[in-house]
Amino acid sequence: MLGNQRERLPDVGSLLVVGSGKGGVGKSTVSVNLAVALARAGASVGLLDCDVYGPSVPMMLGVRKRAASSGFRAMLPLAEAKNLAPEKKIPPLTRYGVRVMSAGFFIGEEQAVAASSDMLGLLIRQLLYSVDWGRLDYVILDLPPGNGEPQQTLCREMALDGAILVTTPQDIARIDTAKALAMFQNADVPVLGVVQNMDGLLCPHCGERIEIYPHSKEVRTRLDQVPVLGSLPLDPMAARWSDEGVPVAISMAETPFGQAFCTLAREVLARQQTRNSSNE
Ligand SMILES: Nc1ncnc2c1ncn2[C@@H]1O[C@H](COP(=O)(O)OP(=O)(O)OP(=O)(O)O)[C@@H](O)[C@H]1O
Ligand SMILES: [Mg+2]
Repeated sequence: MLGNQRERLPDVGSLLVVGSGKGGVGKSTVSVNLAVALARAGASVGLLDCDVYGPSVPMMLGVRKRAASSGFRAMLPLAEAKNLAPEKKIPPLTRYGVRVMSAGFFIGEEQAVAASSDMLGLLIRQLLYSVDWGRLDYVILDLPPGNGEPQQTLCREMALDGAILVTTPQDIARIDTAKALAMFQNADVPVLGVVQNMDGLLCPHCGERIEIYPHSKEVRTRLDQVPVLGSLPLDPMAARWSDEGVPVAISMAETPFGQAFCTLAREVLARQQTRNSSNE
């Protein structure tokens, strides 16, 4: 089996990816809040921001680096990949009970990264092995958009235990999400389900539901067969809290929006438990 030759992170129960072929659909929002919700449900969780060109996790968790670094090499002083001595590993930051790492911790907020895109797979794989995660139930990888790097390297070289897709309702996003789905399925990565984000807006004045993006009528057979893990409305408060660096799983915990992440975390826990027991 292909999957058996892939590498597992030592002491990590499940390595999950959150992805979509489409940009801006809410992958980082889902990654951050799923991680926080899993931690609140009692799991030990790590979160790796795999977006080197546009890392969002630092801002979403209120750990910002405004000053530019003196070079991209500052990002990865440790390039010996998996057999790094423990004392050389990078300690993650802990936010809201989640151990977090991002290229954005090393690169200034408005600094451009000079690495070519084909280096990204190597970089993220090294970063994954360079962090002192400790013993964790889950590490969640927040992927950048598209099907290029680091997705290709991760799918090829790492044993990924589950993929969560994020899409918005309209076909232009679903087309790209279907591509990401095909990429994971072709690589034998189990797809746990899809989160439908920005699915309507409740008018704050009259409460009427407004469809911002039209629900696609196109049949996308493979995508339509994937379980829906949750549906999130578009909520301006969610974007505001993200910019403030407080995850909605905390700041809006009592609202339906915040609760949706508790439900998502429960779904993920249940699916992983089912998978683990069927693999025993
Ligand atoms: N349901 C929502 N309601 C309101 N704002 C949202 C919602 N989901 C995401 N956002 C906001 O939309 C923006 C894009 O979200 P996010 O960064 O999570 O998307 P992404 O898919 O990770 O983007 P990228 O492709 O750049 O990585 C952010 O400002 C985020 O706060
Ligand atoms: Mg993102």
